[in-house]
This record gives sequence, structure tokens and C-alpha cells, in this order.
Amino acid sequence: MILTIAMDGPAASGKGTVGRRLGDKLGLHYLDTGLLYRALGQATQQAGLDCDREDDVLSMLPSIDLDHLDPDRLGAHQVGMLASKVAVHPKIRNGLLSLQRDFAARAPGAILDGRDIASVVLPHASVKFYVTADLTERARRRHADAMRDRPDLTLDDVLKDITARDERDMNRSTAPLRQVADAILLDTTHLSIDEAVAQALRHVSLHDQSRNLGV
Ligand code: DC
Repeated sequence: MILTIAMDGPAASGKGTVGRRLGDKLGLHYLDTGLLYRALGQATQQAGLDCDREDDVLSMLPSIDLDHLDPDRLGAHQVGMLASKVAVHPKIRNGLLSLQRDFAARAPGAILDGRDIASVVLPHASVKFYVTADLTERARRRHADAMRDRPDLTLDDVLKDITARDERDMNRSTAPLRQVADAILLDTTHLSIDEAVAQALRHVSLHDQSRNLGV
């Protein structure tokens, strides 16, 4: 039986860090699905095409390769904005579905983090988390990260960008970010990374116990 864990949440909520650590501890594959949208946004822009035009983005879809997603190259703050733009297009989301589902089917299981994992990609995931944190705390974290490649960015710039990104990700018509009814809420505002990972692990082991008991 393959274990699948969905980890959705807004930008800078901590879902990536928690997801990666959880994957290491449980020996599961881990995919940051945001990198797919980031790679598409970057490829579209580098080709001189327009991220707001669905057909432009669609023409770049064949260039996406799961095994060549470089988090360092794609991690820049401005690439996140491009990703959020390409992610509104239904044909793009649809085109990325089978890649994500095939990844999730790898034994012994996988953790996928994103925005629509529990709602669309893996609606039957074994465990679903909705990871969030207060907007100001998320902006503070993202600003600290962004300082490495964009020391000119102010906290206020980042706050505005994250607010715009939340707005687009939560209100788009296809697969908006939302907490599904059976997702476990993990609010990381006042948690250290270790505490957040420990809480997530407890929920996964509860799931395992209930599965072993046939509940
Ligand atoms: O998780 P991230 O910040 O790297 O994601 C970048 C953008 O990609 C995000 O603003 C929305 C989009 N995205 C999405 O729509 N669905 C996903 N499963 C993952 C990311």
C-alpha cells in the first residue's frame, strides 16, 4: 500500500520545509509542485513569451522535466510571481496532472506540496495537511529568504507581492487554493520547524495506527 501525503498552503507557510523533512523521516519521495509552475513561468519569460497568454505557456509545456527542476535556480522571489500567473490557466494545470500523479504512485509513497494537491491532484491522499501562517509572519520569512538574491527588496514589497499572490492563488476559477474538509490544519505562525515536523509526524502515525487497526 502506497502512502501519499498532500501538503497544501499559501506562499511561505512552511509547507515546503515541513514536507521535505517529513519525506526524509518517513523515507518517502518528495515533490515541490510549485517548481513545475516556476519552471514553466521562467521558460515562458525566457522565450520572450507572455505568462498571461495560455497558448504561449502551453507551447513551453513539453520542456518541463521532473528530473531537472533546480530549486536554487527557480527559487527567486520574482519567479514565484511568474508561476502564480501561469498557474491560472486550466490547460496548463491539466497538462501537469499526470506528471504529478505518476510521481505520487512511486513506491513506497510520496509527499506532494502545492495548492491543489488535496483538492485535485490526489483527492484520495492518505493524509492531507493544510499548512498556513499569519500573513505578516509569512512575509517576514520570505523577505529573509529573498535578501540573498534581492537585497533591495523591502519587507513592504514582499508583503504586497505575497498578498497579490494569495489573492490570485485563492480566487482563480480553476483549482483555487483552499482547505479541503478532511485536511489537518497546521498553523506554523508560532512553531519552530522541528515543532511543525513533530506535529505532522504525530498525525501521520495516527493515520498508520488507525489503518493497522482497520478503522
Ligand atoms: O509553492 P510556490 O510558492 O513555489 O508556488 C509558486 C506558484 O505556483 C504559486 O503562487 C501558485 C502556483 N502553484 C499552483 O497553482 N499549484 C500548485 N500545486 C503549486 C504551485
